[in-house]
Formats: sequence, structure tokens, C-alpha cells
Amino acid sequence: MCGIIGYTGTKPVCPILINGLRALEYRGYDSAGVALSGRALTTVKRAGRISVLEEALAAGAAGEEYQGATCGIAHTRWATHGAPTDANAHPHATDRLALVHNGIIENDRVLRSELEAAGYVFNSETDTEAAAKLIDSIYAQNPDPIAALRAATERLEGAYALAVVFADRPKQIYAIRRDNPLIAAATAEGAFLASDIPALLPHTCDYYRPDEDEVVVLDTEGAAPSVRFFGRDGEINHPVCTVDWNVEQAERGGYDHFMRKELGEGPDGVRRTLTPLVHDGLPLFNLPLLDRLCDMRSLRIVACGTAMHAGLMGRYYLERLARMPVTVEIASEFRYRSPILSADEPILLLSQSGETADTLAALRLARANGIPTAAIVNVIGSSVAREADAVLATHAGPEIAVASTKAYTTQAAMMALLAVATAWHRGYLTEDQAREMTAALTDRLPVALEQTIALEDQMIEQAERLAPAQHAFYIGRGPDYDGSVEGALKLKEISYIHSEAYAAGELKHGTISLITEGTPVVALSTDTTTAAKMASNMREVRARGGYVLVICTEATKGEVASCADACIVLPESDPILAPICGVLTEHMIAYHTARVLGCDIDKPRNLAKSVTVE
Ligand code: G6P
Repeated sequence: MCGIIGYTGTKPVCPILINGLRALEYRGYDSAGVALSGRALTTVKRAGRISVLEEALAAGAAGEEYQGATCGIAHTRWATHGAPTDANAHPHATDRLALVHNGIIENDRVLRSELEAAGYVFNSETDTEAAAKLIDSIYAQNPDPIAALRAATERLEGAYALAVVFADRPKQIYAIRRDNPLIAAATAEGAFLASDIPALLPHTCDYYRPDEDEVVVLDTEGAAPSVRFFGRDGEINHPVCTVDWNVEQAERGGYDHFMRKELGEGPDGVRRTLTPLVHDGLPLFNLPLLDRLCDMRSLRIVACGTAMHAGLMGRYYLERLARMPVTVEIASEFRYRSPILSADEPILLLSQSGETADTLAALRLARANGIPTAAIVNVIGSSVAREADAVLATHAGPEIAVASTKAYTTQAAMMALLAVATAWHRGYLTEDQAREMTAALTDRLPVALEQTIALEDQMIEQAERLAPAQHAFYIGRGPDYDGSVEGALKLKEISYIHSEAYAAGELKHGTISLITEGTPVVALSTDTTTAAKMASNMREVRARGGYVLVICTEATKGEVASCADACIVLPESDPILAPICGVLTEHMIAYHTARVLGCDIDKPRNLAKSVTVE
């Protein structure tokens, strides 16, 4: 949800900013801009993709600064206030400064009126312009950047990560954040700040995460490039964070799309995620979380989007294996419906990025009410990871495609292992059974996922069949309904084919009226206990002219294959492993459908990967 990058150092800044923006493009991609800080503060911004900005710069829009500047800030936007136009693109500049912003300023109308009364003229519809002019008005009175940022944030309401360059300080960048992510780093070649790690990977794996309301100062005027942090009581030293990602992981590596590359990275992500959690063949979480979970009455899982769908699969595992009651909630709903919280019902947050605003707000609400919290996150050091009482890391590696795939796979696998551990400790599994299931998850699941990917030709064939459709339905029961919800989301978000998931038994209560000649229905049937019922539901669809693709296993095939027009048989029948393979199949079919349709798969219309506004 908007990406920002800044650099001050010894190298020409433009290529660093443009490459940084490309690495952050998944956060928003409707307009982009740079402010170059040199002999004069030069701002260039354009509606459209980063390539439009890059072409404008190459064509001379920044004049001499294009080659000469070694300090600057840049932004890629996901519009909240005002359409994606040149005027609304960031940076927003005055004579004294230029500013980029990720987040939402909620009191911008009030600030705008005050600033207009003081003589400022606004050029855009954005909330951000109010922040830029507010800082300008404070700086005009007292040209101290740290004091100006701090004073401004006392007036700003909402969420923000702001980076500012001042015309009279051409080698420095100032930044501050509240509720939105920002990281900073320094190497021998310069000091950097960014919204997220992929933008820094070409330069360093070591970085700092400033706390809220600290002013970050990037400077190259001293002996070496530096990044410093100033709280209200003076300078703060943060421990360095090191990420074990590499730049290749954050690049497409020969694939046409990040999404296809990331689908293939799921199996290794599962290996990397589960292996550190297994000792002597048994799960060892080594966290207070597990003791608490075992003793707790129930668990509440809170998340957004695909992470919430992984939570649904987690509910299946915990209920089936550990007999633990679990509720799964959408974070934005959880927070605002005055939830009934109880100290013996911990809250488990799931988040790939660890920065989703609604998930973070839910976490804070839980903590403020004294509820034990745990989080499963993919980005170590993210806000959710830092604020939860206990953290489990998925090791999916950087996920760049907006549509989340390998993060889902690793989250679901983590939930399965957590369920095995909980079931064993609660006495629902013997040690031998726990050992067997642990081996299935760590050894057989990654292989089964690889074998699933190897069925790609069959998925392409089905994608070609799906592509002309206006509508599609996904049906399943139990874990297969949980998987269907995710399959339908993936198809609609990247191919723009309207798709809905229905509990297969519910179809006859209304939705079946939407089935007409040729309507595609993807049936997921890995669960042997419901295969016969699924077969009936599929027959009902076919009787009304629907086209049924069933994704099944060797164990369910006998029941369901003859009721379908097409059948993909998964390589695993194990009830713990097969649902995850089923979802991977649906992810792959969605990918290929979008590909057949020529969609912009990695950057679907109107979406952003990291949603840091509520
Ligand atoms: C956005 C993304 C989804 C993602 C969701 C939650 O909507 O487009 O792919 O599942 O946010 O993100 P998180 O980082 O919390 O898992």
C-alpha cells in the first residue's frame, strides 16, 4: 500500500530509486515519482507504472539532476485520496521540501483548511499534501528538521511512514513512521530507507527498524554514510536485523511472473519452515504458546485475505486432530464488532507481511485487553512479529506477487504441525502417531507438492476451459470447502472471472439457480468421509448443464471421478496433506487462467500486496 525508498550516498541516486521502486511495486502501482536533492530540489512524478516515470526521467524531466544527484526519495502509489493522476502522485513538494508518504492522514481536511487560511494553495486531492505543507509551515518558523517532523506528527492523525528531503540540506533524508512500516540501513556506499526489505536486498541484508515516532536521519555529510534514530529523549541505538533472503529470491529468475516462480517455491518453503520445529522426529515449538494452547479452552484465529484462508485450514487441523474449538475471523470485522474476549482464548494472528493494518489493529486490541497473542508471520521483524507475545516464522522467502501462494502453503503446513503438537500434548495422539504425522508433514508434504506442480499440463488444459467463463463456482466440504474459498479468491483476483466458493451441501439451497449450460464448477474432494456426498452434489450440477472439474485423490476418485467432466488426481491421499495439495492445484489453475487471458498477473487491477491502511 504505497512503497517508499530513499538514498543518500556516493552513487547516482536515480537508478537506485527506480530499482527500489520496482522492488516495491507490489505495494501499489498506479503512479510514481521521485524528488532529487542536489543543487535544487527537483520533483518528477507521473501517473502510470514505474516505467512511465523512468522514461520521463531518461527524457530529461529532471534536467541535470538526473545524472548528478546522489540523494533523493521516491514513491510508488496505491491511491486512497484522489485518482491516480500526475498531480496526486508523490512526492508532494514546496519550495523548502519534498515528501513521500505511505498511509492515510485522517485529519487532512482540518489541516488543509488551516493551511489554506494561512495562505497555502493546494495542488492535489491527496491527504499527503496536507502533511507536506504542515511540515513546511513549521520548518519556515524554525528550520530544524527533527523538531519539524516531531511537531508535525503531534498534529497528524492516522497512519504514516513519511520521508522528507529539505532544499537546504541536500545530503540528508528525514523520516518518521506511525503504524506503517519503514526500515533503514547504511553501507559504505550510502544510507537507505524503504518500506520493505526487497528494496534493500541489492545493497544489504542488514537493516534497522525504527520504533514509532522516532525521527530517522540519513546522512552522507560525515565521514561515512550513516543512519541515526532520535526519540524524544535523545539518540537511540537499535540492534541490527539481518535477513537471510537474497536478491535472487526477490527476482523473477527467468519466470514470466513472480507468481509462477513463487508457486514453485512452496515445497522448499515448507521444508525450511517445518524442519527447525522438529527434534527427534517430534514437533518442538519451544514457546510458551504451545503450553498455553494445550490448556486453553479454545482458540481464535484472526487474519485477512489468503492468510485468513490458511487460518480456516488451521481450524480444520486443530479441530480434527486436537479437538480444540477454533473460530476464524476477518481482522477488520473482529476489531469493530466489540468482540467478547476471554483470557483463556488466545488469539493467533496469521500474516505474510506482518504489516497488514487490520491484523495489526486486531493484535493491539487483544493485547490491550490482556489476551495472550501469538503470530505466524513470514517477515521477521515486522510489526506483528514484534508486538505479539509469541511468534512462529514461516520461511517462504520474499513473496512479491500480489496473489499470495507460497505464504499460504507454508502457513497451512505450520498450522498442521501446530495441530499435531497440540493433539499429542492434549492426549489425542500417541507419541507414535505424532511422529508419523510429523514425518508426513516434513518429508512427504514437500514431495507431494512438487508432484502436484508436475501435473501442470492438466491444469493448463483446465485453465483453457475456464478462461472464457464469466462466472465460476468452487465447491467442497470440510477442509475442501476451506480450500475452495481460497481457490475462488485466487481465480477472481488475478483473472477477473467472477468466482464464488460454496459449501457443496449448500448449493441446493440457492446457488444452484446460477448453474446454467457450461458454467464451470471446480469441485475439491480430498476428504473420504464426504466423497459420496460430493458425488451427489456434482451430479446435481451436471444435471443442470454445469461443467464439473473435480480435484480428488486416489482415495476419493472411485466416488467422484465418474460424476465429473474432468478429473485431476492429486499425488497424496493423506487427509492432512491432500487439502494443501488441492489448494496448490487451484492456485496453479488460477495462474494459468489469468495467463491465458493475458492478465497482469503479478499486479492485478486495484490490488496491493501489503495493505497498510484500514
Ligand atoms: C492483501 C494481499 C493478500 C493477502 C492479504 C493479507 O490483501 O493482496 O494476498 O493475503 O493482504 O496480507 P498478510 O500480509 O497479512 O498475509
